[in-house]
Amino acid sequence: MQTTSNTIESQPQSKTRRRVFSGVQPSGDPQLGNYLGAFKGWVDRQDQKDNFFCIVDLHAITVEQNPEELRRQTRELAAMLFACGIDPDKSTLFIQSHVTAHAEACWILNCVTPIGWLERMTQFKDKSTGQDSVSAGLLDYPVLMAGDILLYSAHEVPVGEDQKQHVELARDIAQRFNRIYNELFVVPEPVIPEVGGRVMGLNDPNVKMSKSFSHIRGHAIRLLDEPKEIQRSVMRAVTDSENEIRFSDDPERAGVNNLLGMYKVLTDQTESEVEADFADARGYGDLKKRVAEIVIEGLAPIQKRYYELMDDVAELDRLLTTGADQARQVAEPKIQEMKQAVGFVLPDQSRSQ
Ligand code: AMP
Ligand code: TRP
Repeated sequence: MQTTSNTIESQPQSKTRRRVFSGVQPSGDPQLGNYLGAFKGWVDRQDQKDNFFCIVDLHAITVEQNPEELRRQTRELAAMLFACGIDPDKSTLFIQSHVTAHAEACWILNCVTPIGWLERMTQFKDKSTGQDSVSAGLLDYPVLMAGDILLYSAHEVPVGEDQKQHVELARDIAQRFNRIYNELFVVPEPVIPEVGGRVMGLNDPNVKMSKSFSHIRGHAIRLLDEPKEIQRSVMRAVTDSENEIRFSDDPERAGVNNLLGMYKVLTDQTESEVEADFADARGYGDLKKRVAEIVIEGLAPIQKRYYELMDDVAELDRLLTTGADQARQVAEPKIQEMKQAVGFVLPDQSRSQ
């Protein structure tokens, strides 16, 4: 296994803090699984880490998108991330297509990635099965993602369980490049959150809560849902026929476990503290009522900040421009090193303005 000692001098890494990179697609309405499984963890660890967060619009177009909707959703997601607490003074938040090195890195990495590695990806199999037409981009998606991570020499990649295989592929690609060319890349580690790692659908606790199903009533809690809507979805959540409010691995009890898991992450408590909170609860009705309250309470300040940010799109765009400038300072030297390593003639820097 490679270690971080592969990091070369030109990478402006913080001496004390580990570098974190993660990404999120600007498609669909962000939902509670995104917040508990991803955004909240990013925000909570902002002070201890050197953070890069990317809105991956290049990834979004691997499946069909409506251009106007993509543009709108990209800004909305940026506002949502800032609203969730991403602080531009502590973290770099940017749009992937603003930093052209991502597309360039993808191409170079494509050329060291065997197709078989991509065909094995479970997400590719899921997304391509039954489709009339599948874009080359969809197959290539994990290589673009590897480029995202490797350009920033990230040590840690916080993602939900579903993305672990892609981060492992990024490790394989990094190691293969390092072996073929130079020891250029830090080999990243996936970091999977314990509980928020898999927030399940309220209508079916055996299916992951997902933006793609958020149009199905009662499936997801969207981060912008009004309190009444949140209450309705939680009250209708599928549970079981028992009456015991405690954490459990039993698939039959996945619904209750899911509700308790949400409560746990939102209140930052341990499992036994959560169970103690419900010691006096009268049945699942009570459990749902209190979970709904905690979710509504947790989302209220986020929603307020979100609408303030969306009221000033010029300021939002300015924050994103600054983010991209900061990202480029890391990604640009790295892409130059990659080009150098594979044998490209670099343009004469003294002549370009
Ligand atoms: P996506 O919505 O698929 O673009 O995912 C964005 C981030 O949120 C990734 O790190 C996902 O793994 C995470 N995520 C999405 N849905 C969930 C969920 N239901 N539970 C936990 N994490 C999730
Ligand atoms: N594929 C990830 C998802 O759908 C998003 C993503 C793109 C990403 N590039 C990344 C996540 C780099 C972590 C690191 O969730």
